[in-house]
Amino acid sequence: MHRKNDPPVTAPPTVEVTFHMEDPEPLTGKHDKLVKVMAAKGENLLDVALDHGINVEHACGGVCACSTCHVYIRSGEESLREADDDELDRVEEAPALQVNSRLSCQSVITGDGPVEVEVPAWNRNAVKEVPH
Ligand code: FES
Repeated sequence: MHRKNDPPVTAPPTVEVTFHMEDPEPLTGKHDKLVKVMAAKGENLLDVALDHGINVEHACGGVCACSTCHVYIRSGEESLREADDDELDRVEEAPALQVNSRLSCQSVITGDGPVEVEVPAWNRNAVKEVPH
């Protein structure tokens, strides 16, 4: 899936990404709390999640204009593109901010991984609970 003006991803899926979901059923319709997938360098974590049936909230469509795609990077942050100022400004608006908070739509895979991502239970409710 491709939502932004980034170049199309043509790399093979060589990077292991594991999604840990506190409450998986609303995100996937299943009860598996852990989903391990393969992703390509150049993909962002939001696209990787959506492409594998993990419906991470993304109110702005992945253009760094909300904060609903907020996730925690448990490990492997060195395999992700560093957050730029726009992302840092935006992620500060996210609920339950932590030092490992990232916007999944801005977290582009640049390294070999593996990457471990936590999708908090409140993710799906962010838009409805925090009116703008
Ligand atoms: S989807 Fe809006 S900032 Fe990521």
